[in-house]
Amino acid sequence: MNLSSLFPPDVVIVKATREMWISPLCMEEEKLIEGAVEKRQREFRAGRHAAHAALSRLNAPPAPLLRGEKRQPVWPTGFLGSITHCRDACAAVCAEKGKIVSLGIDVEPLTPLPKGIARYINTVQEERFLQLHDSLPGRLIFSAKESLYKCYYPLLQHYFGFQSVSLDIDIPERRFHFMPTPESHIRFPRNLCFHGAYLVDGSHLYTGCFLTRQRPAPP
Ligand SMILES: CC(C)(COP(=O)(O)OP(=O)(O)OC[C@H]1O[C@@H](n2cnc3c(N)ncnc32)[C@H](O)[C@@H]1OP(=O)(O)O)[C@@H](O)C(=O)NCCC(=O)NCCS
Repeated sequence: MNLSSLFPPDVVIVKATREMWISPLCMEEEKLIEGAVEKRQREFRAGRHAAHAALSRLNAPPAPLLRGEKRQPVWPTGFLGSITHCRDACAAVCAEKGKIVSLGIDVEPLTPLPKGIARYINTVQEERFLQLHDSLPGRLIFSAKESLYKCYYPLLQHYFGFQSVSLDIDIPERRFHFMPTPESHIRFPRNLCFHGAYLVDGSHLYTGCFLTRQRPAPP
């Protein structure tokens, strides 16, 4: 199993190489991390370099990847993507706009969530599910919701909390789906199909999701 199994073949996924964590970016991108702590600078550089490498494989014209007002990367016209990093892993996914409408990715260490955090992240049903399947990574629900948020944010343009959705995990297929919770006020676009998947790669958990257009119902 490798990371590309999280996405369809027309999505390019690049894991940051060692070089990428330490190589400076172009001036416009370096400006975005001026004065940031070293850890943040390293992660940002790794993410931007990985995203540039993915875009270049898609023949996107080279240009700085700037930042939107909610921290989302601003992708070149005609392309979309998502970036994730933690202390020692980083990846970017990109695709041409078209069949794929949006992308989200998240990486987490294979460690449990810090004590006391889970109840803010997991719904009661999710918590029960994790307890029944205690071999699943403790951060699975958290990570899936992070990638789901990154995937929907460009379309919804606003924040929604962790309790807005409840996940369904398909363990044999390593896939996930979601339902808005009754208390959620989010209008998830109905004309789009959600696809979510996860995998463990070395000492990390990766979750990825993407949206495609719904096939029209047969006449
Ligand atoms: C935005 C958020 C998901 C980023 O998570 P993080 O812990 O910093 O983790 P990651 O390293 O995986 O991701 C960071 C990257 O996400 C991307 N990102 C940040 N905000 C984003 C947004 N609004 N939309 C899409 N992508 C975004 C950026 O590329 C960022 O990296 P960069 O700043 O170096 O460019 C997180 O801060 C957040 O707001 N979480 C709450 C989301 C939520 O409510 N989820 C529940 C939904 S059910």
